[in-house]
Amino acid sequence: MTQDQLKRATAGAAIHYIAPKLEPRSIIGVGTGSTANFFIDLLAELKGRFDGAVASSEASAQRLRAHGIPVYDLNSVDDIQVYVDGADETNAALQLIKGGGAALTREKIVAACAGEFVCIADESKWVPVLGRFPLPVEVIPMARSLVGREIVKLGGDPVYREGVTTDNGNVILDVHNLCITDPPQLERAINNLTGVVTNGIFAQRPADLLLLGTSSGVKTITAK
Ligand code: 5RP
Repeated sequence: MTQDQLKRATAGAAIHYIAPKLEPRSIIGVGTGSTANFFIDLLAELKGRFDGAVASSEASAQRLRAHGIPVYDLNSVDDIQVYVDGADETNAALQLIKGGGAALTREKIVAACAGEFVCIADESKWVPVLGRFPLPVEVIPMARSLVGREIVKLGGDPVYREGVTTDNGNVILDVHNLCITDPPQLERAINNLTGVVTNGIFAQRPADLLLLGTSSGVKTITAK
């Protein structure tokens, strides 16, 4: 199977997982990226069985609207029943690295509001230790060099993601060569740097469930 076929299969498994739980008042949190796009396209088939969605990016909001799915501002909804999103890496504790699509801050906000966080990923994202994928950090533009120097002190090699501005008007530093053995600790340490908006470690709020697309089928994994 190709990587896209695995992504589509895991998105399909997420639809099967959430469909029986949907109610007319349900709000679904929807993530960003190619796996989330497969999910959005399949979610269109459930239109009318839930109220609407909150999107973690302008791109996902546009895609949802194109399918006729109502998109709400997070401030106008009481709660998000379930959040479905992809990841750049996951470990067995379902701690993630996210932000390859530069949407990490809104993704983290939506995840924080969600009753349940379902991660959908193909098997290439499964790692024993987070850090092979360069860690995205969203930074206020004027603090780019300051944050870069501080990240070097933490042992990482930050690279400015040229030509990318986030939906929040900020820039991204991709931090290479990290071996993240204590994800919650590094998540807190980087978030504490002045000028950092968010970093892409999702450990303080990990996923609750992982649907992992593999060549032998979609595996359902809960945190170890
Ligand atoms: C976007 C993300 C995505 O979830 C992550 O990059 C995975 O993307 P894809 O599904 O395209 O592999 O965090 O900011």
